[in-house]
Amino acid sequence: MNFDIDRYVASVAALDDSDIDYDDFRRDPLPDEALRCLRYMHDVEHHTVCYLRDLLVTRAHDDPVITSFLTMWAYEEFWHGEAIGKVLRAHDEIAGRPRIDAARARVGSGRLATLGTMFASVLTEHIVTVSLTWGAVNEWTTQAAYVRLAQRTGHPTLTELVRRIAKQEGRHIDFYASEATRRLENRRAQRMTRWGLSHLWTPVGSGVMPRAETEHLITYLFGDEAGAEMARRIDRRIDRLPGLSGLGLIDGARHDYATTGAVSRDAAHVGIGRARADDIQSAA
Ligand SMILES: [Fe+2]
Ligand SMILES: [Fe+2]
Repeated sequence: MNFDIDRYVASVAALDDSDIDYDDFRRDPLPDEALRCLRYMHDVEHHTVCYLRDLLVTRAHDDPVITSFLTMWAYEEFWHGEAIGKVLRAHDEIAGRPRIDAARARVGSGRLATLGTMFASVLTEHIVTVSLTWGAVNEWTTQAAYVRLAQRTGHPTLTELVRRIAKQEGRHIDFYASEATRRLENRRAQRMTRWGLSHLWTPVGSGVMPRAETEHLITYLFGDEAGAEMARRIDRRIDRLPGLSGLGLIDGARHDYATTGAVSRDAAHVGIGRARADDIQSAA
């Protein structure tokens, strides 16, 4: 699998939602369970620039192919967050900077982890392989989450919007998976990546969002049999990466986070639900 970076750079664009009628959501609103997932997706898409920072403190920043990709990747993810924000606003919900402020404040202490990544990268070049493989896993699960959200809601306008987002996630998958496959040919990189994923990986967004929100998202999108099959499909893709068979990461995350009790918890309890901007800020 070879990724053509020049072709990707030439084709990058902000998500085209010019013909999406967001007023459809006023006429036919989404259920609360789906909106709660979209709040999560909005916050995590807008957190991409912070993930970018964590990648750039590694030796990844020495590689112009990687930095070209990351530049475009962060741009595309930004517009995913903006599009989801429009869906939230069509439900009279807060979106954009107040929510982003709150997310950044919640993970303030997480900046120490950035220092850890920086020091680890000084010690070994294989941190780049760990990071890029981690990226592949997260892009696979993100794309699957959008597909499942469309399936669960059956909402035609949301389905079209997330289809376009998922298509761009597919190009991100192509990059991360191709880089991971190539770099994992190195046995030391394999061992380090296997250890890193099995001991440190958690579902995308779980370091940014309160645990109850991750539980809700995984329960709603991956809690049923169709979701379980999607999780197994991602695990099979991870299995095909050199040296990474049998990790069972995604099925493990389902068992760790999917709980029926979590679904009934009130999102407002953790301050990131249907709330005023002041409430969102104070929850941070
Ligand atoms: Fe995205
Ligand atoms: Fe992506």
